[in-house]
Amino acid sequence: MGDEECSDRRFGGCYMKGNHTKSKIKIVTKMVFCRKNEIMCGIVGYIGNKKALPILIDGLKKLEYRGYDSAGVAYIENNNVQIVKSVGRIDVLENKLNMKSSTTLGIGHTRWATHGEPSEDNAHPHISNDGNVTLVHNGIIENYQELIHKLKKHGYHFYSETDTEVLANIIDYYYKKYKMGPIDAINRTMVRVRGSYAIAVLFKEHPDEIWVARKDSPMIIGESDSGSYLASDVSAILKYTKKVYYIDNLEAACLKSNHITFYDLNGDIINKELKTIEWDVTASEKNGYEHFMIKEIHEQPEVISKTFHSYVEDDKIDFSKSGLSGDILKDINHIYIVACGSAYHVGVCAQYVIEDLARVPVKVDIASEFRYRNPLLSKDGLVIIISQSGETADSLAALREAKAMGIKTLAIVNVVGSSIAREADYVLYTLAGPEIAVATTKAFSTQLIVSYLFAIELAYAKNVIHKDKYHELLSEMNLLSNKIEDFLNKGIKSIQKIASEFSSIQDAFYIGRGLDYAISLEGSLKLKEISYVHSEAYAAGELKHGTISLIEDHTLVIGIVTMEDLYEKTISNLIEVKSRGGYILTISPNTIDVSKVSDYNINIPSTIKYFYPSIAVIALQLLGYYIAVAKGVDIDKPRNLAKSVTVE
Ligand code: F6R
Repeated sequence: MGDEECSDRRFGGCYMKGNHTKSKIKIVTKMVFCRKNEIMCGIVGYIGNKKALPILIDGLKKLEYRGYDSAGVAYIENNNVQIVKSVGRIDVLENKLNMKSSTTLGIGHTRWATHGEPSEDNAHPHISNDGNVTLVHNGIIENYQELIHKLKKHGYHFYSETDTEVLANIIDYYYKKYKMGPIDAINRTMVRVRGSYAIAVLFKEHPDEIWVARKDSPMIIGESDSGSYLASDVSAILKYTKKVYYIDNLEAACLKSNHITFYDLNGDIINKELKTIEWDVTASEKNGYEHFMIKEIHEQPEVISKTFHSYVEDDKIDFSKSGLSGDILKDINHIYIVACGSAYHVGVCAQYVIEDLARVPVKVDIASEFRYRNPLLSKDGLVIIISQSGETADSLAALREAKAMGIKTLAIVNVVGSSIAREADYVLYTLAGPEIAVATTKAFSTQLIVSYLFAIELAYAKNVIHKDKYHELLSEMNLLSNKIEDFLNKGIKSIQKIASEFSSIQDAFYIGRGLDYAISLEGSLKLKEISYVHSEAYAAGELKHGTISLIEDHTLVIGIVTMEDLYEKTISNLIEVKSRGGYILTISPNTIDVSKVSDYNINIPSTIKYFYPSIAVIALQLLGYYIAVAKGVDIDKPRNLAKSVTVE
């Protein structure tokens, strides 16, 4: 659809256009812009015996961390649907709403647009032509153009180019055509549309129900004495209930005040198990910290210890809850690690540790490449998907690709009940709790811990390491959280100082060898994503194959120097940089002498070589964080980024 069709609603509320019948539905908005796509939006909904609007606004505020540019709610008042939308902060929406409204049913949405200007007009909820169906949607409807074409032939009009509006109208179309009620209309829609979606739908003729459906986009349903809740992210409803249902792909649910019914794609009622969320409500509050990111950096000693102890008891690793036994591990001869972004960097670290400790070949892939590469996978292999959210579209697709090829899959995931966790053969959970800052810190650290444990258990199952080594590694791991705590207490001041000196840099280079290179990748990403400073990570030995030509007077080069067996080589590379004018910041333990090269050294506690990434990354996170603080940018919600990337 082109601008032409968008432009003809520039004068008013969408449903009032053309030959729509007048309904009592009030839309506090006007339609101007169109959009084609969105990454990660937020959905919240409530039906019960409490006032709905405060719950919706509170839930939307909890979802703010995911990034958004506009928001809206729809609620039922006197059997009529009311829709209120606004651009910008949730506060603006709140001010527009009559918060005293006694409505006890509503749905809300935060929209994060990637195409089309953020505007009230493009915000959700969207409504069908005559106001019969109102909905909010996360995800993407890939065949929305085709559906628009079809619906136009049946007299439907479109006030925007949003794929969501198409959904509202196609549900309306099936609802009226077959006259078999909401579940039939929703199921026919699910069969007809392609793409990913989580939707919450209000039907004008069913004013005491909220309908929900999903495919490949997260949605969780909560239950409590005060009513039924829905959310795309558990943090939006954690304050009200920890009792939840996970709705699966191509399933639907009808939420009433005191009852929830689940349906499959045939429209048959299905039973779901009620689960309890273990996360602490306060984990999604800032608790006096200036940003979630620094709070989460400080939480690392605790979540590392929690994760470690969830798998290690009496000096023994126990993966039995995941179903991953020593017998299964000993027959694994190839490992493929697949992930995106920081989780991919964990994979690069894990590759070094697994190959060195367990002597099993490891291949690490970026999920978006793996899924289309037609990879050659060995039947005695294991595909490991690493993901904080468990919803990253490319990682999920890679998991499905591997499963379709008949390879065993293991997920290392933070969010219980997420798609990746549910679809993998085995799951090892990280216990990082809710991670709110867009840039990952504590989830990354717990992923490292699980990867080390996996490597140790694999090495032991394959008889490559003996009991002594096994115990030595575990007891050193056990010390990590205290060492990190200690470093956090003592190291921050010096990193703040360095960061303030380098707050105006344009470029930075991170170099290292082996695991130091692996963790350089993460240091570089942390800096660029939150402070917008261009940075690159290089294997130290690779620098002189081209990139060294970028080094000039005062270019910041950060050398990670923890590997006892490789440090002399890294130092030689740093000397090459220094002689071209580079300013050298090193990160090293005091067992390694970097004095002849470094202009400034951040001294980190010493540990066994495999575990240095866990300590070095804390320094790198702090460096990125304090440079971003000095620049005064929005640290928890960096521009253009969303917390969870559920589209490819
Ligand atoms: C960077 C960051 C991202 C994620 C990546 C994968 O700080 O957070 O690079 O690591 O988007 O996300 P998950 O782990 O949810 O699959």
